[in-house]
Amino acid sequence: MERKTVHIAMNGVTGRMGHRQHLVRSILALREQGGLDLGDGRVLWPEPVLVGRREDALRALAERYGLTRWSTDLDAVLADPAIDIYFDAQVTSAREEALKKAVAAGKHLYTEKPTATGLDGALDLARRAEVAGVKHGVVQDKLFLPGLLKLKRLVDGGFFGRVLSVRGEFGYWVFEGDWQEAQRPSWNYRTRDGGGIVTDMFPHWEYVLHELFGRVTSVQALTATHLPRRWDERGEPYEATADDAAYGIFQLEGGAIAQINSSWAVRVHRDELVEFQVDGTEGSAVAGLRTCRVQHRSATPKPVWNPDLPATEVFREQWQEVPDNGTFDNGFKAQWELFLRHVYADAPYHWDLLAGARGVQLAELGLASSAQGRRIDVPEITL
Ligand SMILES: NC(=O)c1ccc[n+]([C@@H]2O[C@H](COP(=O)([O-])OP(=O)(O)OC[C@H]3O[C@@H](n4cnc5c(N)ncnc54)[C@H](O)[C@@H]3O)[C@@H](O)[C@H]2O)c1
Repeated sequence: MERKTVHIAMNGVTGRMGHRQHLVRSILALREQGGLDLGDGRVLWPEPVLVGRREDALRALAERYGLTRWSTDLDAVLADPAIDIYFDAQVTSAREEALKKAVAAGKHLYTEKPTATGLDGALDLARRAEVAGVKHGVVQDKLFLPGLLKLKRLVDGGFFGRVLSVRGEFGYWVFEGDWQEAQRPSWNYRTRDGGGIVTDMFPHWEYVLHELFGRVTSVQALTATHLPRRWDERGEPYEATADDAAYGIFQLEGGAIAQINSSWAVRVHRDELVEFQVDGTEGSAVAGLRTCRVQHRSATPKPVWNPDLPATEVFREQWQEVPDNGTFDNGFKAQWELFLRHVYADAPYHWDLLAGARGVQLAELGLASSAQGRRIDVPEITL
């Protein structure tokens, strides 16, 4: 077995996503399993180079995980020909510039979403990557969650018949930060720092809807900043300028209608932090991050509306659990593996910077829809 070391510059690894999901649960997990077996006699051994702004934080991280390379000098890292891949999990506002540098240095690109703060920038990145001939990928982790994989299985198996509608409910209470610490970084609540729930979540909804049910052809959204004052990491109050909730309606190619509520100002009375209910002519399903339940038309009860009587049926019990029928790896790691196979074994991969740009486009048009108070068509984009 030939062991091939792959040097990956990882920028933003001190952050929530960069640290937990990408470094620990993906790259280090790959090392723990002995590398990535490409199935052709080669095993890839990922060697991360930690990149960031704070040397002490990077050093501490490297020491904690027994890694040897870190740097606060992105340009120097990118100038190193031994680095194959540039990965970005920085704050959204810092991403575009760093990705441009990386593509100019001829590195393959793998990045968190959103890929840029506007569609023009996102498309420009995709074009640059194509011209440079590098491979590129964008994190679309929700597709690799057990609940959504089961939902996809149902779609592929024809369970739904004609899909009529999709109802998504995403959110939880993000603490204001005064009497209890906020569980998300404060930049998420400031527009000038690239925050906002539309910018954050609409890219996810774009690829989930597109891959499972059809491309989004129009968007109508109403956003809100329900909590205009929050407290930051230092306990200082600040004005929350970004939207913390978005109520969206999306028309899909094929005719289905999706409605997704996204909110950081909602208390959870659901089984999971995100849930999608799909209703089709032949059956319905409710999928969360891990679970998925179905009700076939043949087993659909016939409730009768009568507010004078208490409900006697336990509606939730009328659904059937979709079995795992397999094991599910961490979604971020699963996508890293596919990307590495794409780079080193030419495996097909379509979650690229153009796909990422579609997510940015939907966020941009969602915000425009809310500002203008109207439904907006979503044109198909190409390179
Ligand atoms: N795929 C997903 O499910 C998912 C979930 C959450 C966040 N994200 C994306 O990941 C990215 C990072 O989000 P996060 O929640 O990990 O954020 P975070 O604040 O925890 O981490 C941000 C990282 O960027 C670095 N950084 C670089 N320039 C900075 C600047 N000017 N100000 C502040 N930090 C700076 C920080 O040092 C840190 O390493 C965002 O683009 C976000 O959209 C993706």
